[in-house]
Amino acid sequence: MQPIGVCVIGAGDLGRKHAECWQQVEGAELAATVDIQEDRAKAAYADFGFPAWFTDYREGLQQPGVDVVSVCVPNYLHSEMSVAAMDLGYHVFCEKPIATTIDGAKAMIAARERNGVKFGVALCKRFWEPGRKIAQLVNDRTIGRPTMYRVVSGIEIRYKSWIHDKVMSGGPLVDIGPHYFDQWRQLFKSEPTTVMAMGQTFSAGAAELAGIDSEIDTATIIVQFASGDIGMLSLSWGLPRGTSTSSVEHIMGPDGVIELIEGERVVLRTREEEETVLERAENDMYVDEIAAFAAAIREDKPPFASGEDGLAALRVSLAALESVKTGQVVKLNS
Ligand SMILES: NC(=O)c1ccc[n+]([C@@H]2O[C@H](COP(=O)([O-])OP(=O)(O)OC[C@H]3O[C@@H](n4cnc5c(N)ncnc54)[C@H](O)[C@@H]3O)[C@@H](O)[C@H]2O)c1
Repeated sequence: MQPIGVCVIGAGDLGRKHAECWQQVEGAELAATVDIQEDRAKAAYADFGFPAWFTDYREGLQQPGVDVVSVCVPNYLHSEMSVAAMDLGYHVFCEKPIATTIDGAKAMIAARERNGVKFGVALCKRFWEPGRKIAQLVNDRTIGRPTMYRVVSGIEIRYKSWIHDKVMSGGPLVDIGPHYFDQWRQLFKSEPTTVMAMGQTFSAGAAELAGIDSEIDTATIIVQFASGDIGMLSLSWGLPRGTSTSSVEHIMGPDGVIELIEGERVVLRTREEEETVLERAENDMYVDEIAAFAAAIREDKPPFASGEDGLAALRVSLAALESVKTGQVVKLNS
C-alpha cells in the first residue's frame, strides 16, 4: 500500500484531532506539523511523533513526503492555505467553514480543478450517528413531508476570541452554521432557496473580547428549501460565562415528531406511540471523516463533502448575516 504523507496546518484543538485521526488510517504517515505558535507546533511534534515542525506553513508544504494537507487554522486562512497546497499538487482536507467569503471558496474549487487533486471539506456532521438516524426516519417518511427542523442552542462567549471576529471567523453564524445547513441539504435532498434571520451581538462590549471586532453571535435563522422543508436555527454563542441553554432539536412533520435529546438520544413520536430509536452515538465522527477522505484518495472517488457542498453551506451563513443586517429576506439562486 502506498503511504499517504500528511501535513497538518494548525496545531490547536482540531489540528491535534486530525493528527490523532490520521494516525488511525492504515498507511498514513505524519510528515509535518505547522503552527504559528511555536509551542503548539512543538507540542504536536512531540505528542504525535511528527518528524518535523514549522511555524510557517509554506515551509511545512516543502517537507518531503507530503501528499495531503489538513487545514485546521482560523477560518479566514482556509482559502489561502488550501489553494497554496493544491497548487503544489497536494490533496486538501479543510476544516469547515470552507472559507469566509464566496470568492475564497470559489478559488479553492478552481484550485482543485486546475490541479486535479481531491479537495474535501470537514463537514463531520455527515458522520454524526443521530443525524444519520434522523435522516433515515425522515427519508422513510415516518413523520411525513415536508418537515420543519428546529434547533435551539445557546452557549457562553467562546474562549477562542477569534471565533467572534468579523474577519478571522465571520462570527458564529459562519463558523457553526454550515454544520446545520449542510445537514439540512443532505437530509432534505434539496437546495435552500430563501433565508431570513434576525439577530444581535450579545457579546458586544464584553471584556473578554476586548480588541475583537465582534460579528453577530445570536440569531434566529429560517431557511426554506425547494422541497418545502424548513430549517430553523436559533443560536447564541454570546451568553455570559457559565451560562448555556439546554440544546433542543425537533423535526416536526405532518405524521409525527423526532426529538433529539441533549444531542444524543433520538426519540420518535407518532400517533400515541413513542420509541427511542438511538440511545447514543458509538462512533467518533472525526475518525470516520478522515478515514473516508483517505479512502477517497486511495480509491480515486469524490470526497464525502466537496468544495461545492462547503460553498452551498457558506452561502446560507452569509445570507443569514445579510438578512440580519438589512432586515430583508434573502433569495438564494445556487
Ligand atoms: N469540525 C468541527 O466540528 C470543528 C470543531 C471546532 C473547530 N473547527 C474548525 O477548525 C478550525 C480550527 O479550529 P480550532 O478549534 O482548532 O482552533 P484553535 O484556535 O484551537 O487552533 C487554531 C490554530 O491555528 C494556529 N494558527 C493561526 N494562524 C496560523 C498561521 N498563519 N499559520 C499556522 N498556524 C496558525 C493557531 O496558533 C492555533 O493553534 C476552524 O476553522 C474551526 O472552525 C471545526
